[in-house]
Amino acid sequence: MSNDITSKLYRSKRAVAEFPGVSGGDAIPIPAKRNPGDGVASALILKGVCATLQGKVLSAQIERYGDGTYAVVVESAGSGGNRTGGLHLEADGRVKAVIAPKGLTWGVTYHLAMATQVEALFRKEESLDLVEAYGEMLLEWKKLGRADPTGISSKASFKSAVLRLTDECYYWFRYGAEDADPTNDRVADAEITFSHQRPAAVTTEDLGPVVQALTDPDAFNALVNASGPGIAVPAPSITPPVATGATDFVGWQYAELWAAVTRGEHVLLAGPTGCGKTMCTREVLRVLDRACVETCGMESLSDLDVIGAIVPRPGGTREWVDGPLTRAMRRAQHEPVTFFLDEITRMPRVHLNLLPGLLNPRSADDLRRQEVEAEGDGPFYTLELPMVGEVVWTPCAYFNLVAAGNFGRHYAVYDLDPAVRRRFSAVLDFDYLPAMQERDLVVSRTGLDDSLASQLVKVATETRRLHANAELPGALDTGSLVVWAAKARDRGAGDATSLYHLACITWIDQVAGRGHDGRVIEANALAIHDFMKTLGL
Ligand SMILES: Nc1ncnc2c1ncn2[C@@H]1O[C@H](COP(=O)(O)OP(=O)(O)OP(=O)(O)O)[C@@H](O)[C@H]1O
Ligand SMILES: [Mg+2]
Repeated sequence: MSNDITSKLYRSKRAVAEFPGVSGGDAIPIPAKRNPGDGVASALILKGVCATLQGKVLSAQIERYGDGTYAVVVESAGSGGNRTGGLHLEADGRVKAVIAPKGLTWGVTYHLAMATQVEALFRKEESLDLVEAYGEMLLEWKKLGRADPTGISSKASFKSAVLRLTDECYYWFRYGAEDADPTNDRVADAEITFSHQRPAAVTTEDLGPVVQALTDPDAFNALVNASGPGIAVPAPSITPPVATGATDFVGWQYAELWAAVTRGEHVLLAGPTGCGKTMCTREVLRVLDRACVETCGMESLSDLDVIGAIVPRPGGTREWVDGPLTRAMRRAQHEPVTFFLDEITRMPRVHLNLLPGLLNPRSADDLRRQEVEAEGDGPFYTLELPMVGEVVWTPCAYFNLVAAGNFGRHYAVYDLDPAVRRRFSAVLDFDYLPAMQERDLVVSRTGLDDSLASQLVKVATETRRLHANAELPGALDTGSLVVWAAKARDRGAGDATSLYHLACITWIDQVAGRGHDGRVIEANALAIHDFMKTLGL
């Protein structure tokens, strides 16, 4: 143990009253991810985890002080009344002081574990392992009816999840997001102060959602799945058709798209490049085994690439050839078909203008009056083929449109005209995954080890932050991140220099941008390289 504070966490070897069956110093079946050896239970942390589940964290705040430091301050309920404790942190995340509740002169108490958990959830993008362990523990707890942990401590999977969380808590407290290496010990120089001695706050920020997430699995999911400043869409209540293991796509959009396609809705998928819109659509259609005709919007599309055209044939004749849209409609006369229009915002307006008319449902009577012979009672969608005059029909119930696109000034795209937009009854916004899920995705796709994958995800997250602040022209997308990670795996790259080299041959131009001479903007590229170095790569 590096100093008095961390050693005090492990000093008690007594049985933990709140979690019968475990004593300080007992072995932990599944230790923290960063623990290279066997895990050992800290009685104090375990008590803090139990107290948290018992709802004893009443409120939490971030207090920012004039010198750039800040504190995570937690108010908790205890037998002797409410207590205030926390962590006073340097701007870089090192622990300046452990704030002990007033009067608890030992200084290192179970309140420290409460504050550590709150801090970790507040910094959820970085505390991936702890967040994962917390989520697993909540899941096990939920299965047991969210009972008082004392009464269910003998349940094997709950016990193992709680103990894993205690070990993750220790590693987060001691090393933050860094490798468990003595040079990263963020507590080494920490002192103990008392709640009543902390500086006057310049600003305070309430951590209500974090406090709620500590004991409410739904609030926890909402917290960890909210990425960036956008609107956090709550996870859907829809159950996907088969086990989610059937798809490699990660995200709530899969279940929503599945439900919408099953209902035959027209669905618009929107979001930045490389966040899985195309993949999600193809996966849903594959799992549903639904007939699909796909086309991709681009400037150079001709009539033949969409509706169809009259083309010359050998021997000097000319005949009509269906384009993909017409093929999809003819096929939908017999079976349900999805027309997947990828990159809709790159589709020339002349083709997009077909959609509002096509997607106006028409009754069987209406068709009969125009001498269009259609089978069934309708309603129908219709498309008149230019120059040949044929009206192609399809029952509305059998034809749906799924379109995906990037929106916004950053892309060289067209906005959707309101008349086209209105034809979609479901709109799914895609965004980059929360860091923990993105790390797992990188690991599962590439087999890269967890800690390197988290570092690469941190680089991606940082480029997205800088891009959102207009400090970088582009952001590293998930697709490019996976490609970068695969190259790192193939070449055994793990240090900043080789990872930067691989970034240069994979994505740096996209993120750093190119100047008027066509060269990658060096200052931006170097800033990214510097960031990689600060991660200790
Ligand atoms: N949520 C996700 N789940 C699984 N894989 C993902 C996810 N997001 C991105 N990927 C990975 O990124 C790659 C690129 O995704 P995809 O091409 O579907 O993105 P997109 O949103 O359609 O991008 P664009 O707007 O440029 O067309 C996928 O093949 C996959 O490897
Ligand atoms: Mg796409």
